[in-house]
Formats: sequence, structure tokens, C-alpha cells
Amino acid sequence: MKKLIYLSSGLLLLLLSCKSVQTISSSSNTNEDKTLNARIAQMSIEEKIGQTCQITLDVISQTDANGAVSAPCVIDTAKLNEAILKYHVGSVLNVGAHTLSLEEWKGIIPAIQHSYVTGKTKVPVIYGIDAIHGVNYTVGATLFPQEIGLAATWNPELAKTFGEITAYETRASGIPWNFSPVLDLGRQPLWSRTFETLGEDPYLISQMGSAIIDGYQGGTNPDEYHVAACMKHFVGYSAANSGRDRTPAWIPEKYMKELFLPSFKAAVEHGALTVMINSGAVNGVPGHINHHLITETLKGEWGFKGFAVSDWEDFIMLHTVHSTSPSLADAYVQAFNAGVDMSMVPLSPQYQEYCNIMVNAVKTGKISMERLDDAVRRILLVKSRLGLFERPVPTFENYPKFGSAEFQQASLNSALESITLLKNENGILPLSKNQKVLIAGPTSNNLIYLNGAWTHTWQGVDTAYNTSGCLTVREAFEKKLGKENCLFSQGAELYSNEGFEKTRFVNLPDYKEKLKQADVVVLCLGELPATEKPGDILSLNLDIEQRELAKLAYEQNKKVIIVLLEGRPRIIHDIVPQADGIIQAYLPGNYGAEALVQLMFGDVNFSGKLPYTYPKFDGVIEFYDHPKSVDRSKSGDFSAYNPEWDFGYGLSYSNIRYSDLTVSQEIFSDKDSIAVSVRVKNESAISCKEVIQLYVSDDYASMIPSGKSLKRFYKMEIPAFTEVKKTFYLNKTDFQFFGSNGAFIMEDGVFTISIADLSRKVSCKKK
Ligand code: BGC
Repeated sequence: MKKLIYLSSGLLLLLLSCKSVQTISSSSNTNEDKTLNARIAQMSIEEKIGQTCQITLDVISQTDANGAVSAPCVIDTAKLNEAILKYHVGSVLNVGAHTLSLEEWKGIIPAIQHSYVTGKTKVPVIYGIDAIHGVNYTVGATLFPQEIGLAATWNPELAKTFGEITAYETRASGIPWNFSPVLDLGRQPLWSRTFETLGEDPYLISQMGSAIIDGYQGGTNPDEYHVAACMKHFVGYSAANSGRDRTPAWIPEKYMKELFLPSFKAAVEHGALTVMINSGAVNGVPGHINHHLITETLKGEWGFKGFAVSDWEDFIMLHTVHSTSPSLADAYVQAFNAGVDMSMVPLSPQYQEYCNIMVNAVKTGKISMERLDDAVRRILLVKSRLGLFERPVPTFENYPKFGSAEFQQASLNSALESITLLKNENGILPLSKNQKVLIAGPTSNNLIYLNGAWTHTWQGVDTAYNTSGCLTVREAFEKKLGKENCLFSQGAELYSNEGFEKTRFVNLPDYKEKLKQADVVVLCLGELPATEKPGDILSLNLDIEQRELAKLAYEQNKKVIIVLLEGRPRIIHDIVPQADGIIQAYLPGNYGAEALVQLMFGDVNFSGKLPYTYPKFDGVIEFYDHPKSVDRSKSGDFSAYNPEWDFGYGLSYSNIRYSDLTVSQEIFSDKDSIAVSVRVKNESAISCKEVIQLYVSDDYASMIPSGKSLKRFYKMEIPAFTEVKKTFYLNKTDFQFFGSNGAFIMEDGVFTISIADLSRKVSCKKK
């Protein structure tokens, strides 16, 4: 019986490995193709397999007596030679346990490229790194708000600037490839990586994600100041049913097409050069063996020409975790034949074993030479587009703006446009300067709470690497008001207990005493920095101890402003009604506290808007574009869509009035473009940046239509007492949905176009 099972699984693997492979052509005649083909023709099987192998820097670094990477980080020549000369490894990633200085990078990158520079190897190494909110692994780099905060700016220009600066500083570190942006759909608020996403809406993600890619790459041939982007994590990683990192997701085809794929498709259209594959499984198929999605959809249908890299150890995990491959050898063949071009193996001795197994798989025909050449051609294409063949080592002196005041200002600007005002009652904000302010709460007094994970270390909790000169919330208030006008008592602290975040009180008597002395309390709540598995949580509700700090302040009838420094929207419903002010700061980066203070004192107007639906109850998790039929019972808490705050919500200090929503035609066909115009007036004495949001909904459709979907947005400055007019253009794709016939369709009928509280009906009659 056992034998039979082995036989049938072997057959299945053979079938899978023989499945038709979408390859990029070897017969094309462009100069680029000719050069690539000539290079490939000179390579042995071993050299080609080496190109598909990615190892971590630790593998080739000198270590101390305990096996830890020594500091400063120095390359171990024997280990390097084994990797590069013996196994022909084509890619290295990331750093060891901590951030490196520019000086260290100046030693590491030339050492890694030495064999190529001296003609011992034919192909340079491509170094990849997670520079996800700035170059978080280089000392002194400019750290921006995390992606969720960037999304809250609703300003693609800022996203592009973030991309440009991050690319510049990545290159300044000698690195040409960034594992960013995350384009995953943020619709599982429990997920630890919600902060790495651009929110819950496919259109917002597509616009902001593509802008980041434009900034990173500066086109499809990144010069020495730009890097290759990496779309992550293709696709469905963010939707784990359990909410736990890397666990299975079940995504109906309709949602896959309408919600999950569009941001990746847009990124491919913007020329993204690489993609990283989803570590989890969707509909029972691990991301790394999903031939349909990787080879047919991404490379075939969309024409993606770059290469696909696995996520961490994910070839191996097909065997050890997913249990879809009975052996490591099967796993490697399956993943590679599904279309993953490079394996982040990434440790030793696993990488040597990977290379040996893969060479054997090619020699025994389990992997065809055509498929191997295709993967290598894609990898060489990206190396060539990055100029690595000509400039494997950068001129490190060419980056004088690294960590400059100009770049820091750009990060501050992003934070200013990101931080979102959710509640402002009783005239609490803007704050006046002549009040005694108590700064309190677990996230008030350390930079790590502004930056989150992927900051100097993977989890971002080590305070030793905090950037000197950057301010915590407490310090920013003290700078603004003078220490004598600020009180401080933390009240509680966050800690990790058996892998899960917990809160405990810290000197409550002191907190209660300081409350008595304060006119206003700025209470900073939130989360411990964490990502991936370590960021899993047991409940979306913010810990009771944190909420208790607010309640203690309410008991003393204090004016309270809650500042949230959190990666995902944690439920705080019981402390919302009595708060005078609530501000969502997300993870605003190194300059986030300065931005917060400027906004809270009215030096700058708020303009951030929520990039996700903020839940009110953990039993009522729905999204803004839910089908209308979700709202069967609209009365109060019975409604199945009952958020604390809506997607797109955010207050400012201005009074904005929308009027004159007009459409160019009330009846349109699939050939037409409709112009939608609206007037927006800033009726206040303070200038503002308003995000004009246009939504469309289908009044009746053959499948339950969504209540509304975001189709366009535009953020614009509106000076005090000024009226502006904005026109958007819609076409047939804005009225389509993925129908039961398995295609995007636009049905005849009535649609509602809405902007703010105005709406217009239009009718579609196809020609
Ligand atoms: C993460 C990726 C990351 C990679 C390399 C993985 O664990 O899922 O997002 O790019 O590690 O650090």
C-alpha cells in the first residue's frame, strides 16, 4: 500500500514537472536578448543553477566563537569562495542580527563582487534587501512611515518620493534590489503585517504601489540611483483565514480577480522587475507551486519579464510545512517548474544541498534545459537592466545626499500627510500652548513605537540602534512646550510573554498623581513592534490595561487625546465615546513625533485618511465595499457593517463643502468616457489638503453588487476660502465586475457615482 502511494505521488510530480512552461523567448532578436543568450550559451549547468540560488549574508560572514556574525561585519573569504566559486551562487540577501554602517557595506559589496570584477566568474551577484520604509538596515538612513502610513497620505507623489529616496540610499549602501513594496490586500486586520500593506482597497494599493515602484526603479532600466522593485507576496498571503502569519487562505476566484490581483497587475504594467512569492497556500495550493498564478497569469497573460524569487526557505517548506512534496528534491522541482526562478534557500548547508539536487534534477530531465535557461535569462535580464555587468560595485562617493536634511524633510512631509485625525470634540485640537500636558502611555517614550518592525533589526524592538537626534512623542512635546510645561508618566509598558504581546501597568500611583496636575492628557497607546510569526496576536482588542489608562483619566474628568501608534487597527471601542480627540498615527517613522506635534498644535493641517475600515467590534469585521446585502439590518449594532471609522475617513481643521457634482452624460456605452466634475470649497481660514474620493456602485446586477467601490481619488491643496473644481474621467472598466461567466463584464443598468455626500445616477446602454 505504502509503495502504491509513493508511486502515485511520484507520477503526480512527474506530471506537474512536465506541465507546459511559459518561458521568455530565446529566439527574440533584440540586442538585449542576443547579449543574454550569448551569456547563457557560455554557462555550465552548475553555473546556471548557481544563478537561481540565494543565500543570506550570514552564510559568508565571519562569526565569533558562538557562531554569531561578528561586529563589524566582515566577509569570510573561504566561505565566500565556496559560495561564489564552487557553487556559483548568484544572489545574497539582507543582514545578520543588526544594522550595518556605510563603512561596513563598503567592505562587503566589493568583496562579494570581487570574483566577477577579477574575471573569475561570468556573472555579478545581485544583492537584495528589505528596505521597506527606508533603508532600515543601514545606519543613518532616512526612515519613513511604514507603508500603511504612506497609504494614509493618499498622495502618490509622496509615495514616489519615498521610493526615490529609498532607492538612492539603498544604492548608496551598494545594493541594487529592494524586496518592496508589499502589494498584499490588507483585509485581515489580525495579520501581523497589516502595517506593511497599503490598506484594504485594490485601487488605492495599485495607485500608491505603482508610484513607489516608479520611485524605486525610475523606469525599467534603473540607473545607479535606482533599484529593482520586488512585488510582494504574490498572491493572497495577507488573507490567512486564521489571521496567523503564513497560514492557509481561501479566496474565491471573484475576489482573487477583483481584489487581490489588480495591484500586482498594475505593478507589472509599471515595469516592476521582480516578484516574491506568497509563503502561504491559497485554495489548498502553496504559493510556490501555483503554476497557474505564476507561470500562466503573471508571466503568460500579463507578460512579466522579470524573475520570481521565493520567500525565506519556501522551497524547503513545501516538504517540511505544507506537506505537498514528499521529499526536498520533489519540492525543488515542483517550485521551479511552477515558475519560481530563484530560491531564497538561504542558509548553509542547505544551499549546497539545493545546488547539488537541482543540478541532478536538470541532468535527469526533471527540470528541462528550456526552463532553466528561462529562469537564468530572467535573472540575467534584471542584473543587466540594473547595470551590474558594467558597475558591479558602486562609486560610494556618489551619494552625498544620504541621510541629508532634504531627505529627512521628505520623510517628515509624508508623516504630516499620513497621520489621521479621527475625533476632535470640544475644541480640544489644535492645542493651545498655555496648558499643562501629560504625556503618557506605553508608546510615548521610545522611537521603536514610531518605527515598528523592519527597523534596524527584523522585529525592530532593539532600542540600541535608535537614530540619535530623532524624537519620541514625549521629547517632541518637551521641545515644543518646554519641559516645564510637560508632565510624563508612562502608566503601562508593552512586553512579550511566551511570544505574545502583553501590557502591564508601570507605577500607576505616579500616573494618577500626574493626571491630577494635567490640563490635557496625550495618551499614546498601541503595539509592540513585530512582524511575521512573532506579530501574531490572540485578540484584536487592545489590552485592557491600555484602555484602563484612558478610563482613569476620564474618571478625573480630564481632557484626553488618544494617539494610536499601531500597525493594525486594534479595537478600542469602549474608550472612544469619552475621548475628546483620537489620532491614528500608524507607524510614522523617525520624524513621526515631530509631525504629530506640528499637527496637534495646528502648525500644519491634518490631511491623512484611513486606508482601511477601522473595526468597532471583533465580531463585526467587514470592509467598506461589502455587498449591499451585508446591510440587511441597519439598526445600530445589529448591522453587519458597523465600523468605528470608515475607509477614507479623516478630519481636518477646515470646513469643506462639496457641490455641483455633474456628469458629462447620463446615458453611456462601453465605448464612452464619462467626465465627472465636482466643486470643493474650503470655507475656513486655514488652508487644507483635501482627498477627493470618487466611488461607483451598481444599483442592480446579476451578482450581488458592492455598496460602493473606490474608482478615483485626488489629493489637492485648497487655500483658505477658496473653491476649486476637479474633473475625473471614468471608462467601462470602472463599471465592470467579475461575473459568473468567468470574465469581467459591464451590464446595462443604472449606476450611482458618488463624491462625499453627493451622488448622480448614470445609465449604461451597451452599443
Ligand atoms: C519575508 C519577506 C522578506 C524576506 C527576506 C521573509 O520572511 O516574508 O517579506 O522579504 O523574509 O527578508
